[in-house]
Amino acid sequence: MAKILTGIQSTGTPHLGNILGAIIPAVEMANSTSDESYLFIANMHSLTQIKNEKILKENTFSTAATWLAFGLDPQKTCFYRQSDVPEVTELAWYLSCFFPYQRLKLAHSFKDKSDNLKDVNSGLFSYPMLMSADILLYDADIVPVGKDQLQHLEMTRDVASRFNNLMGETFIIPEAKIHDNTKLITGTNGEKMSKSKSNIIDIFVDDKTLRKQIMKIETRSLSVEDPKNPEECNVFRLYEVVASKNEVELLKKQYLKGGVGYGEAKELLLNKILNRFSENREKYFKLIEDRSKVEDLLSRGSKKARVQAQKVLKRVRSRVGF
Ligand code: ADP
Ligand code: TRP
Repeated sequence: MAKILTGIQSTGTPHLGNILGAIIPAVEMANSTSDESYLFIANMHSLTQIKNEKILKENTFSTAATWLAFGLDPQKTCFYRQSDVPEVTELAWYLSCFFPYQRLKLAHSFKDKSDNLKDVNSGLFSYPMLMSADILLYDADIVPVGKDQLQHLEMTRDVASRFNNLMGETFIIPEAKIHDNTKLITGTNGEKMSKSKSNIIDIFVDDKTLRKQIMKIETRSLSVEDPKNPEECNVFRLYEVVASKNEVELLKKQYLKGGVGYGEAKELLLNKILNRFSENREKYFKLIEDRSKVEDLLSRGSKKARVQAQKVLKRVRSRVGF
């Protein structure tokens, strides 16, 4: 049986783009596979960017609650918090002693981040070693990630091979499984929806706030009677990813014919989102009120993960002579 493992950064409450583009497909995959699966919240990686105890805790919590609200089954998937398995930092150190500094310097993600962030700390630089440890600590075979993480996976494979060659067979060499991000969700201004672009739709807010976000979607200035091009409308693009095929076809016809205003289309979109995600929102709000339940699930997951981590770490310690 193969082991599938992936990590998610907890940089904020997941938005509609994260949910449709990453969370729903990952939950479907985890729940339908007969393989063993591990999913963790990479809150130690988030520390490279977030230096506020409350925010870091809150983000970890809201990320965990979102995954659970979208049906992640913690009985089937080992669901845990990275910081609850501190063995990962010990392994990261060993790995960094086997990986050339010059190779680490070539990481694109470090380059991108160091060009854009004020706080360029050395954690950001050694990020790929912690990520390699996340993976190798569990003998993972398959790691589903987005394209932007491919280089980190190559580094993981590289450091594992270097270690194996020098110290004897120790690590499983993992394979990346790239999600094809065909479903790129656009935000309220028509660009890719992203936290950093202030164009998100956050479904875990009260109805009034959700309505405000939707009313903010940028549209052209056309009158109700004017025919409209669905392809270039931000409201329509969002409706397309949440509504059924028939509903989308119907709105498309109305757009092309004229007679439907952007205000009406926004109402339609709002009702669709409220409808489609009503169960998930209810679950999320319940979890937010009962934090102990999320805490309890995460600690149980972490206990299970830690048993596995300690086994692998013991193997590594003996290889290096400790
Ligand atoms: P953000 O751009 O808001 O910071 P992240 O980079 O943290 O989002 O992405 C987390 C996950 O969500 C990744 O798997 C990414 O591919 C997916 N994702 C992010 N934004 C979108 C989007 N607009 N459409 C589809 N998937 C997205
Ligand atoms: N770096 C990944 C991201 O930003 C998150 C991550 C951390 C991860 N550790 C991991 C993903 C291990 C897969 C496996 O998306």
